[in-house]
Amino acid sequence: GTHFETITVHTEADKVGIVTLNRPKQLNALNDQLMDELGQALQAFDADPAIGCIVLTGSEKAFAAGADIAAMAKYSFADVYKGDYITRNWESIRGIRKPVIAAVSGFALGGGCELAMMCDFIIAADNARFGQPEIKLGVIPGAGGTQRLPRAVGKSKAMDMALTGRMMDAAEAERAGLVSRVVPFDKLMDEALGAALIISDFSRIAVMAAKESVNRAFESGLSDGVMFERRLFHSLFATADQKEGMDAFLTKRKAVFQHQ
Ligand code: CAA
Repeated sequence: GTHFETITVHTEADKVGIVTLNRPKQLNALNDQLMDELGQALQAFDADPAIGCIVLTGSEKAFAAGADIAAMAKYSFADVYKGDYITRNWESIRGIRKPVIAAVSGFALGGGCELAMMCDFIIAADNARFGQPEIKLGVIPGAGGTQRLPRAVGKSKAMDMALTGRMMDAAEAERAGLVSRVVPFDKLMDEALGAALIISDFSRIAVMAAKESVNRAFESGLSDGVMFERRLFHSLFATADQKEGMDAFLTKRKAVFQHQ
């Protein structure tokens, strides 16, 4: 396979792709190389017909402590604008059509929090800390933090985080709806892989449609969103997986989806 320097890539049970951020000395600070490698790894799993779900994780101490401050400290406006530096390749993650679960332990700060929020849902270890501390550096979040955080936790808490730069612990993040589950650190990968294995056995078509439809909720008004969902729902009756899923229920057996 491809050789990466800033991430490692594995699979679980030949059907879950695992990407681990791996710049431990910099607490997984996100530089252009890492974001390029992450994009390549996610696209490779997305294109691999054996893979049904992807888990993105970091280390115990840090999911990611943000964009790489050392790499960007000296940039001018002209540099970052012309080169689209720091954030140029981040939105490519949104193009991944299979589910991506963020398994977050330790710091998820700045771009690290934004990266976690670009994933489809976040499972957190009890030691996870989330924050948008860019204000302390004289800037603001630049990879979607001011947009995705209010959608996840509401305006008041998002403003609090963006304006004070304070961190949220895992319990607050769960109360606020930023993360879907919190587990002890030593259960984090079991929990994330458990969810990923469940997802990867479902109809790939239905899973991709569910992701597409939930994401649509953030891009459209209610009537348009409901209509989008209804069209996708109806279209799934053209799949063999719908026949299999419903027949398996009615005949009291486990469905075996062919992703057709
Ligand atoms: N970029 C570059 N290096 C970083 C980094 C970052 N975002 N975060 C941590 N590091 C480095 C530190 O410089 C340090 O390196 P040295 O050992 O060479 O000194 C190493 O990682 C370990 O960090 P600390 O010694 O600071 O560890 P700590 O446990 O005392 O503190 C921390 C941990 C609270 C996460 C602290 O490192 C910190 O505040 N980091 C910066 C967080 C931040 O401001 N992130 C936002 C970045 S801006 C951004 O992300 C823009 C955007 O929206 C896209």
